[in-house]
Order: sequence, then structure tokens, then C-alpha cells
Amino acid sequence: MNIIINGASGRMGRMLTEVIEQGGVHGVAAKVDWSYAAGDGLSELKQYEGPADMVIDFSNHTATAAVTEYCAERGLPVVIGTTGQTEEEMALIKGAAQSVPVFLSGNMSLGIAVLADLAKKAAAMFPNAEIEIIERHHDQKLDVPSGTALLLARRIQEVRPEAELVIGRHENGKRTATEIGIHSLRYGNEVGTHEIIIANGSETLTLKHEAESRALFAGGAVVAAEYLLGKAPGLYDMKDIVE
Ligand SMILES: NC(=O)c1ccc[n+]([C@@H]2O[C@H](COP(=O)([O-])OP(=O)(O)OC[C@H]3O[C@@H](n4cnc5c(N)ncnc54)[C@H](O)[C@@H]3O)[C@@H](O)[C@H]2O)c1
Repeated sequence: MNIIINGASGRMGRMLTEVIEQGGVHGVAAKVDWSYAAGDGLSELKQYEGPADMVIDFSNHTATAAVTEYCAERGLPVVIGTTGQTEEEMALIKGAAQSVPVFLSGNMSLGIAVLADLAKKAAAMFPNAEIEIIERHHDQKLDVPSGTALLLARRIQEVRPEAELVIGRHENGKRTATEIGIHSLRYGNEVGTHEIIIANGSETLTLKHEAESRALFAGGAVVAAEYLLGKAPGLYDMKDIVE
């Protein structure tokens, strides 16, 4: 499989290049990024017309329009690892998924997919427990809270549809019984840690995932690309792989 990497100069793009090249199974068709040379903020992706079987995107949510248009026009499947999309950008992704297969996950690790499953089960088993999510990332991360914290919260909301997300609690006053608090820490080179605390006053359950290296996410994106190749148009995520 020949893969175009969008966001190739970034931390994830560089790691993904290394993982693909060292893996020796797939090839890098093109490495594209923000077009600084053009000076007009255009994505280099749209200028690439060479052969390719797949796009993997680890860039910035502002690239969503370019990525979805390009893939839909060329009929290319796409794995989107980028996080922080707005509602309008999510609509573009869903639109593209009507004509090409799209894999979207704010976290490409198998461990997080398992954690999300466990969190949902625990929230259902302890319906009155209070739930707090703490996420830790490096000091260069742009989006707050992390896409993964939102992914975990949304899985919990599947069994607690009434739960309101309280992001970065900062006002005086007690928490409500049903809210899910999300707290973001930013420091150093932290790759990504997510902790879910489920407490009912008698007992406290803590579920925690620590990413040791970005290679984990890059490897997961390649697995997602292998899964996606040959699939029908639609929106896929880690749940499809795990299930
Ligand atoms: N899904 C996952 O498992 C996972 C894991 C880690 C990071 N991420 C997400 O991946 C994204 C990239 O993370 P990173 O740590 O590599 O960030 P980074 O800032 O190191 O790199 C981002 C790269 O994208 C480029 N870029 C920005 N706008 C662009 C555009 N419009 N078109 C093309 N390229 C563009 C930048 O020039 C930069 O080279 C972030 O959204 C991050 O949250 C996801």
C-alpha cells in the first residue's frame, strides 16, 4: 500500500514515516504538509497527483476541508488521526464518508479502545458514581481537552445520556451528581496519559492508560489503514477493529 502522509513534518508525521519505512511492508507515496513556500496557507496535499492507495492525516483540524475534498475527488480512503475538529469540519468528514471509506479516531492505540470499553461498562455498573477524567499531554499540544478525553467521555455518555461534560471546572460550588469533569494538564514531553476516576463514596475505581511512545499511534494508524483498504464507503473507528 502506497500511503500519502499529511502533516509529514510534525511529530506524528515524522514518526509515521519512520514506522512505515522501517516496517518494509508499505511505502510512503508522498510526504505533504502546510505549504509554507506558497505563503498562502494552502495544503501541499492538493498539489500531489502521483499514485497512492491511502491518505493518513496527522496535521491540524484546519486541514479537514483540504483532506476530505482531496480524498473524495480522488476516491482515496483516508485515516484521520488529527483531533480538535469543529462541528462544521465533522460534517465535512461525514460527507466524505459517503463516497470513500474514512477511519476517524482521536486515539489510534488498542489500549485506549479497550479503556473506552471498560469505562462504559464501569459507568453502567455504577450508575450513581461520580466520574472525572484527567488527561496529561506535552506542552506543545494545541487542542484542549484532548480528542481522547472527549472520545472516552462520549463512550460513557452512551450509557449516561443525561451526563453534561464540564471541561476545566473553575467556578466555586459543588459538582452536580451527573456531570463528567474533564481536566487537562500540559507539561514537558508527556506523550499522553488518560485516567478515569469512578467513585460512589464507598469505593473508587481508577482506570488509566499511559502511552509510552508516539510509535504506538503511528503503528495503530497503519493497522487502521490496512483495515480500511477495500472497505465500502463509510465512517469507521477503533471500535470496528476491536469488535
Ligand atoms: N489519533 C491519535 O492517535 C493521535 C496521536 C497523537 C497526536 N494526534 C493528533 O495528531 C495531530 C498532529 O499531532 P502532532 O503532535 O504531530 O502535531 P505537530 O504540531 O507536531 O504537527 C502537525 C503538523 O501538521 C502541519 N499542518 C498544520 N496545518 C496543516 C494543514 N492545513 N495541512 C497540512 N499540514 C498541516 C504542521 O505544519 C505540522 O508539521 C494533532 O491533532 C494531535 O492531537 C492524534
